Amino acid sequence: MTIRPALLLAFVALGLSPLGAATTILRGPYLQSATPDSIVIRWRTDATEASVVSYGTDREQLTSVAKAEGILTEHIVPLSELKPATTYYYTVGSVPFAPPAAGKSGSSSRAAIHSFTTPPPAGTVKPTRIWVLGDPGTKNDVQRAVRDAYYNFTAKRATDLWLLLGDNAYPDGTDADYQKAIFEMYPATLRTSPVWPALGNHDARSANSATQSGVYYDIFSLPTRAQAGGVMSGTEAYYSFDHANIHFICLDSHDTERKPDGAMMQWLKADLAATTRDWIIAYFHHPTYTKGTHDSDKDSDSSGRMNDMRAIFLPVLEQGGVDLILTGHSHVYERSPLINGHYGKSPTFDAAKHVVQRGDGRFGGDGAYRKKRGRVPNAGEVSIVTGSAGQAGSKPPPLNHPVFYLALNEAGSSVIDVDGLRLDLTFINDKGEKRDWFSIIKE
Ligand SMILES: [Fe+2]
Repeated sequence: MTIRPALLLAFVALGLSPLGAATTILRGPYLQSATPDSIVIRWRTDATEASVVSYGTDREQLTSVAKAEGILTEHIVPLSELKPATTYYYTVGSVPFAPPAAGKSGSSSRAAIHSFTTPPPAGTVKPTRIWVLGDPGTKNDVQRAVRDAYYNFTAKRATDLWLLLGDNAYPDGTDADYQKAIFEMYPATLRTSPVWPALGNHDARSANSATQSGVYYDIFSLPTRAQAGGVMSGTEAYYSFDHANIHFICLDSHDTERKPDGAMMQWLKADLAATTRDWIIAYFHHPTYTKGTHDSDKDSDSSGRMNDMRAIFLPVLEQGGVDLILTGHSHVYERSPLINGHYGKSPTFDAAKHVVQRGDGRFGGDGAYRKKRGRVPNAGEVSIVTGSAGQAGSKPPPLNHPVFYLALNEAGSSVIDVDGLRLDLTFINDKGEKRDWFSIIKE
């Protein structure tokens, strides 16, 4: 940071250190690319300064220090050699953290101590809570209500990680849009739980996947070299990672070539073939099926991207043993029973052929969906459009795609709990009502 002489005198008069005390954190800290032994901590300040994270497993002893090169406003500090499944406390600033002297409160926001918990070793079992937000970025009261409904629901249960399914910041995915729609909307979650985003069409107005440039790519630090598991994709546009016994796959349905022999497809096949995790969850922006605020039967809708994801990518995901597909774009909640093999338009859907297991998937109802443990191709997935974290359809959508067991024109978000060989998904609307739930069991 540059300090003018008059300002320096003012600092001295106020008893402030010119370095470290004067800048304001404009966003973050926020957590990226968490692995069992590493994490990336990012934040932004209003003036240039050094990047220092002080951390430790004892809240009173933040004696480990990580730094990044440079004097800047955009701070990106990787921590390494962490212990898995361990809670760390941390502060960010321009100098290593010094605890307040005895008798002084020292509770400035710069000295705020935050925490995160590293994932367990990949492949091991640990109850995991995942928050899923599709199309959240409206910045309005609906987005806030959806957020608060989840916060009430999860209460003291920590969020292990969260997914953004694209259209994370309306209208244009600019830095200012992200500031309001993400950084000022979810500050507490950002500093305690790693966020894993997908690119939506609105994000792509300010970003370019081919060149890995623009706001979305500037804001997020995502694994391009398989740092968090999976096979290296070489790009932040699509990537995979492991958390406990779950393998996550993020595809770019908007701005990356979707050809059957394209780079994203080649990577997807290699990534699916390599994973040995108990669960595979794939997420991307454009739904394979929807009759919500978009129509997956219409070739012109979203320039055919929904068709591509269904006809080209879905067969490969199913063959690779996917368990859950999460998408957004359509501002509704739609979810299927256990299905497989439907790649055409909705009139070609044949329940006798394409439903692997019917029913509500609920304990106490028709019973949980059941799959065999291990890599069984085409054993069925539950397909979910959960694109209403910022708004529902303004006029009633048809919601009549035959693939779905349930469809709701309601704002809300989805919560996934994985515990060993059991997966539960719950949809919570903006009023805090549990509007859908089901379970998948592997045996
Ligand atoms: Fe969209």
